[in-house]
Amino acid sequence: MKKEWWHNKTAYQIYPKSFMDSNGDGIGDLNGIIGRLDYLKDLGVDIIWLSPIYVSPLADQGYDIADYRAIDPRFGTMEDMDRLLKEAHKRDIRILMDLVVNHCSDEHEWFKKACEDPDGRYGKFFYIRDVKDGKLPTNWRSYFGGPVWEKLPGHEDKYYLHVFHKKQPDLNWENPDLREEIYKMVNWWLDKGLDGFRLDAIINIKKAIPFKDYEPDRDDGLCAITKMLEEARGIGEFLGELRDRTFKIHDSFTVGEVFNEKPEELPDFIGENGYFSSMYDFSATVFGQSNAGWQDYTDITPDDYKRCIFGTQKKVSDVGFISNIIENHDEPRGVSHYLPEDGRNNDGKKMLATVYFLLKGLPWIYQGQEIGMENIPVSSIDEVDDISSIDAYKVARDAGKSDKEALKLIEKYGRDNARTPFQWDGTENAGFTTGKPWLRTNPNYTVLNLETQKEDADSVYNHYKKLISLRKSEEYGNTLVYGEFEPYLEEMEDVIAYYRKDSSKKLLILSNFRAQERTIPLSVRVKKVVLNNITDYVRSSEGVVMRPWQAVVLEVE
Ligand code: GLC
Ligand code: CA
Repeated sequence: MKKEWWHNKTAYQIYPKSFMDSNGDGIGDLNGIIGRLDYLKDLGVDIIWLSPIYVSPLADQGYDIADYRAIDPRFGTMEDMDRLLKEAHKRDIRILMDLVVNHCSDEHEWFKKACEDPDGRYGKFFYIRDVKDGKLPTNWRSYFGGPVWEKLPGHEDKYYLHVFHKKQPDLNWENPDLREEIYKMVNWWLDKGLDGFRLDAIINIKKAIPFKDYEPDRDDGLCAITKMLEEARGIGEFLGELRDRTFKIHDSFTVGEVFNEKPEELPDFIGENGYFSSMYDFSATVFGQSNAGWQDYTDITPDDYKRCIFGTQKKVSDVGFISNIIENHDEPRGVSHYLPEDGRNNDGKKMLATVYFLLKGLPWIYQGQEIGMENIPVSSIDEVDDISSIDAYKVARDAGKSDKEALKLIEKYGRDNARTPFQWDGTENAGFTTGKPWLRTNPNYTVLNLETQKEDADSVYNHYKKLISLRKSEEYGNTLVYGEFEPYLEEMEDVIAYYRKDSSKKLLILSNFRAQERTIPLSVRVKKVVLNNITDYVRSSEGVVMRPWQAVVLEVE
């Protein structure tokens, strides 16, 4: 594999609205981020992805962009953004923005002009169709519920396509004129000194053409939008052009939000000269999901989790460099999702961190993950901000679930879980704001916060610091970054174990996803205990006696 500057780095996602508020309006902002750059540097972060900060009505929290070249005043100004770039670069930290180009906002001037003149230049930037006798062009269900077709404002018989919210009209990538506008915008940011992008929902830019209906999968007569995407062919032409016209010229770093890629496409996406530098492993994220709705989801067990991540490791191998995560702004907190209930304690959190962080690939940390932030309780639907949770609640109620049961689903899967304010300290609002936070703070902030964890050598936070330095260390860095991945005792239940090895060193990562002590067989000599999430290390004649929720990294012969 060709070596790249970013292979041994640590990446971090910031959700600006909830990271740090500098002016007391309850909304996190760019100045808040600048004030925390030293914190991130000290943690060991090298690359930061900012969720959207562009001008937006925030119908989908900024993933609905009204102006790609301006900063939303709630987050700051363009001067603040320039300062963030400068201050980050001074500390040798790279900044990525979110590139949301499957759709824009219905408040973007392109869409407004499209409404004024659907047959003109801007009408062709979108998918607008004539509708006769109220029959919609297709029966596709949008990601956030309901049909993907919405009446074009000002027109009785014209509808536009939105695969997400109706305030997120899809851009027509088939139109070269639109693509040129996108490339100009991307290059404008890269010329400014931005280091790259995370590519939002990128798989959606290619539709299956001609449009047609698919078999309905719920009583609403609609079918999940993913059905259509499975049939779409030829996304590579768009992505290759995008790469050649923008990222490649600037040698920028890119990471794709890619779901459901076809297996044979992996080298095209992240191989040498792939469309992106890297892409996320979502195999565990999507495990257990169902088109019927959240009420039909299946919980993920440690063994399911193992099969997902190991499956990706084997599939990717040396084809490219995958990005490993346990959470992001669209998912529940990783520790609440992947750890069995009795393992949601500090030992379990450090164990999960060890297991995913040392896989082959680029490790990402989502804000607050480094202190083990958890899902938030929900007592009423009125507390909920996330539009996908609100839709899922309705679907669950329609499927016969009680209010209480439907709220439980939001607690488990809702996007607000990841979006509550960062828990900096034990003062009011967790030190995030002096005002009223835009989304309620998780009540556990009094005990779970950065300040207390900094002082505690055994905290989740200090364990993340150790993992980051281990992966960058002189001694083991190369093995952990480039060494081969090889499963160990793959069939042993509730154990996740694997080797990372190269010609010079052999590391063995062992973990026990159970509340009971058990022995993991091992016959080779252990040269060194490199990392341990608890103090005990017990070796018997049969192997390693693992305490509940223990994870160790061993250098073996
Ligand atoms: C991506 C984003 C998500 C957003 C959607 C539409 O999945 O991560 O937050 O709602 O795209 O832009
Ligand atoms: Ca603010």
